[in-house]
Amino acid sequence: MTIVINMRDGLDERKIKVAGRLIIEGKLVAFPTETVYGLGADALNEKAVRRIFEAKGRPADNPLIVHIAEFDDLKKLAREIPEEAKILAEKFWPGPLTLVLPKRDEVPLVTTGGLDTVAVRMPAHPIALALIRASTPIAAPSANISGKPSPTLAEHVVDDFYGRIEAIIDGGPTWVGVESTVIDLSSERPTLLRPGGLPLEEIEKVIGTVEIHPAVKGKAVDLARAPGMKYRHYSPNAPVIVVEGPREKVREKIEELVAEYRSKGYRVGVMATEEFEADEFFYLGKTVEDVARNLFRALRELDRRGVDVIIAEGVEERGLGLAVMNRLRKASGYRIIRA
Ligand code: TXA
Ligand code: MG
Repeated sequence: MTIVINMRDGLDERKIKVAGRLIIEGKLVAFPTETVYGLGADALNEKAVRRIFEAKGRPADNPLIVHIAEFDDLKKLAREIPEEAKILAEKFWPGPLTLVLPKRDEVPLVTTGGLDTVAVRMPAHPIALALIRASTPIAAPSANISGKPSPTLAEHVVDDFYGRIEAIIDGGPTWVGVESTVIDLSSERPTLLRPGGLPLEEIEKVIGTVEIHPAVKGKAVDLARAPGMKYRHYSPNAPVIVVEGPREKVREKIEELVAEYRSKGYRVGVMATEEFEADEFFYLGKTVEDVARNLFRALRELDRRGVDVIIAEGVEERGLGLAVMNRLRKASGYRIIRA
């Protein structure tokens, strides 16, 4: 049985206590963060963490992020805390930034997918922080079945996990919409493993140039250090096609594609930052922040409306645009059309 705990109107300490107790007992509790919903369990409880992998259908070598509520919790998880980690944490936590550091023995290998590093972040959501404070550091991947778009509404979690986890805290829509930026600080030079809700430009202002892992921009390449990158990701049932290029040309190309697919009898969905004529349309908003916030919701929603193909407008790869394009390209399985 799954209990849905309504906290849409804000934090409720009495309900948080109940949910915190479930975590301590080794149960699975989905909860909102500012980025996406997470599927949480006690990060130091092997058995509980194993259930996360089972529930998601997640490959055992794809490590989880451990969520903390105080900087001091980091000392219980990481063996070494380099200067850059202190600087970044000071500046951006709580927030959509995950740091990969050498792990302590206390952190089970199940949690870290067998790696000797641990990914840690302090989420900027009052419900997430309260839940951690009421329990323990919480391991939580995005609360979606492996391969599906990440959940930005409790309804998405209900769709994927109702009846299969103990509780879902409904805190309303998440506001960043893409997952946290992952920076590896365990090796020689700071390296971006996943672009996300904190723009790379912001990070570089503070610690200087960050290397970009080769898998971030293009197709998956090698992947011992970033195992998450080699799997199919973010995909709705309908195939996704991304159209990239200069704005005017993109418009023309999308119109062309809509006409082409419709003539073949497909029901066509379009997600874009301006209106299009199609069988189904999802408006992503104006700014790149809007697009990030609406991206996963659009993919799930167009699927729900039963389209046969989704055509998505690309955005510029600046600021949050880097994360948006990373997710969109993966969602499309790299079906990219350049206008
Ligand atoms: O915003 C977020 O990060 C959300 C919310 C719930 O906090 N969580 C999330 O978790 O997106 P997940 O499991 O969907 O993605 C975690 C990413 C994966 O790409 C994984 O490979 C990487 O972080 N990761 C975790 N631990 C790692 C480690 N020790 N070394 C390298 N990459 C790691
Ligand atoms: Mg995920």
